[in-house]
Amino acid sequence: MPTLQTTVNGLKLPNPFVIGSGPPGTNANVIGKALDEGWGAVICKTVSLDASKVINVQPRYARLRSRESGEIYGWENIELISDRSFETWIEEFKQVKDKYPEGILIASIMEEYNHDAWHEIVERCQDAGCDAFELNMSCPHGLPERKMGAAMGENPDILSEVCGWVMEVAKIPVWAKMTPNVTHIEDPTRASLKAGCDGIAAINTIRSVLGVDLETLRPEPSVEGYTTPGGYSCQAVMPIALRMCMEIAKVIKTEFPGRTLSGIGGIETGTDAAQFILLGCDTVQVCTGVMKFGYPMIKEMNEQLLAFMEKHKFERLEDFKGHSLQYFTTHADLVKRQAEARAAKKAEHAKKMIKSDEEWQGDDFVKQTDALARG
Ligand SMILES: Cc1cc2nc3c(=O)[nH]c(=O)nc-3n(C[C@H](O)[C@H](O)[C@H](O)COP(=O)(O)O)c2cc1C
Repeated sequence: MPTLQTTVNGLKLPNPFVIGSGPPGTNANVIGKALDEGWGAVICKTVSLDASKVINVQPRYARLRSRESGEIYGWENIELISDRSFETWIEEFKQVKDKYPEGILIASIMEEYNHDAWHEIVERCQDAGCDAFELNMSCPHGLPERKMGAAMGENPDILSEVCGWVMEVAKIPVWAKMTPNVTHIEDPTRASLKAGCDGIAAINTIRSVLGVDLETLRPEPSVEGYTTPGGYSCQAVMPIALRMCMEIAKVIKTEFPGRTLSGIGGIETGTDAAQFILLGCDTVQVCTGVMKFGYPMIKEMNEQLLAFMEKHKFERLEDFKGHSLQYFTTHADLVKRQAEARAAKKAEHAKKMIKSDEEWQGDDFVKQTDALARG
């Protein structure tokens, strides 16, 4: 019987499914619900020291649906980080860890470009009992106006400096969460890992405009008739997330062995998760999926991933982590491989062709006849 249990950066998880930072980890109550339902770990909604600067608007989500089935497959949000006070969060981190000492609680944190502020937020969260950090260097809307989030993640030099500040005081594992809104995801990956981060999480949302209402002519989500570009998530982003995870996993494998990767983006099923693990992920995160289907979806995801493992006779996640990375190559190499395969097939075919009646063989008689019929 295969097992989903895994140890990542020393953290023991019952399964690789992690609640991604966002509404599904927005207070102690819902974090408890996620742990009760059996999620492998929970990352809280991103916290900062001064929540008074965080002012959300409504509506702040807009959704794209399939024309045929009506199913939601794309989701834009212009939601900011948590608007709850840091003091409240510290109390709730303690409450969660008191109630669930074995549950893995990861603090998603974000601060301004200020050495002391990063030291303070790291020290206070770890003192409250959090098991690990995820650094939100990636939120694409609202926060970059304050030089936070993606404004840091898009700049490898700043990223490296800020990750370095965190690593000066962090006593628990640290993942840096990447923005996909860059041309080469390898650059911020290297910057974070060189600064000492234990792992990478990818991806945050993709900068987007969901659409324009053809009655009102206003873009969505419309707040008093206006909008601002937001972050795109849900099923539609999975191919982009898979590509970026593949690129990050290659950097980890070749330059930073032992560091970890948490895959995020459109994951809704155990088979989605299997694909991220095949491309090198240690864990997978789900955010929008939980907003669509609720916390109990973890049970089906576990079953689907176990069924995939049973089918391929994998006992542990490590048995197939990164297996499919070997099948990526350059386009020029694809051309070469195809030419070689075609030449080999032609040679094989030529071998079967009868050039003289002397060559008919009793054992290969039917194959030789077949070759002549097609040839
Ligand atoms: C409504 C909403 C709020 C989010 N808030 C945060 C946040 O506070 N911090 C963060 O790091 N990511 C945040 N995210 C990004 C998600 O954690 C995740 O990276 C992204 O949505 C892609 O994964 P998904 O398709 O499973 O949602 C948010 C996403 C959504 C949809």
